[in-house]
Amino acid sequence: MKRCLIWKWMLLIIFEVVNLSMQIEYEFELEDESIYTNCSDVPPGTLNINGLFDMTNLSTTMTPEGIILSGNMTNVFNAQPSDRIEVTGNLLYFDRGTWQPTTLNMAIKDFCKVMYDEKQLWYKEWASRVTNRDVIKDQCIKNQGTVLLMETYTIMLRFGSSVPLISGRYTLRIRVFAIDQSGKKRPNDVCYEVRGTFFKI
Ligand SMILES: *[C@@H]1O[C@H](CO)[C@@H](O)[C@H](O)[C@H]1NC(C)=O
Ligand SMILES: *[C@@H]1O[C@H](CO)[C@@H](O)[C@H](O)[C@H]1NC(C)=O
Ligand SMILES: *[C@@H]1O[C@H](CO)[C@@H](O)[C@H](O)[C@H]1NC(C)=O
Repeated sequence: MKRCLIWKWMLLIIFEVVNLSMQIEYEFELEDESIYTNCSDVPPGTLNINGLFDMTNLSTTMTPEGIILSGNMTNVFNAQPSDRIEVTGNLLYFDRGTWQPTTLNMAIKDFCKVMYDEKQLWYKEWASRVTNRDVIKDQCIKNQGTVLLMETYTIMLRFGSSVPLISGRYTLRIRVFAIDQSGKKRPNDVCYEVRGTFFKI
């Protein structure tokens, strides 16, 4: 719990766009047009992003201005409406050929409760772009077959930070778990990474 609070506080510093003039502005430039990468090593049974969403009808295109996203995604995650969805995130830094941990780690115990919380890292460039929000608000990612309709937009990940970040290559490793009512993790949890570079702007 404490760790969770610390992360939240760090997020506020590192990622939230605030208006202070002392802030250093960073842009996270995505490395790959397809956005999501497989995790480098996962326990057997863990799925990649395709275990969460069917992206057949989602298109992402790299342009000089950034990646343009459009279309829709269909939820395929192995969860039930009564489950709790737990999400963890770890930011790793690429140093001399290997991914090194950073102090930025997060644990979201009940993702569906905060999916549309404007303070969350994913709000501005993901959740707020889901246009059928009323449906998703109720079903979250707990009903297989739910379609998330996305706005067409250029992904622009900009963050203000009062703490300097080392410029360079990073990966954000996300893991998603469905926990049933008895507190047991369901099989086919998901792990994926989003890779890119932090630039001072
Ligand atoms: C990612 O993992 C999937 C499922 O294990 C595999 O089919 C695919 O080839 C992997 N992609 C890459 C680029 O390694
Ligand atoms: C993609 O769109 C087509 C055409 O509307 C639809 O038939 C199909 O079910 C969609 N696939 C997914 C995975 O959403
Ligand atoms: C999802 O995307 C596909 C392909 O872009 C499109 O044909 C389909 O109509 C979309 N579905 C909905 C429900 O908007």
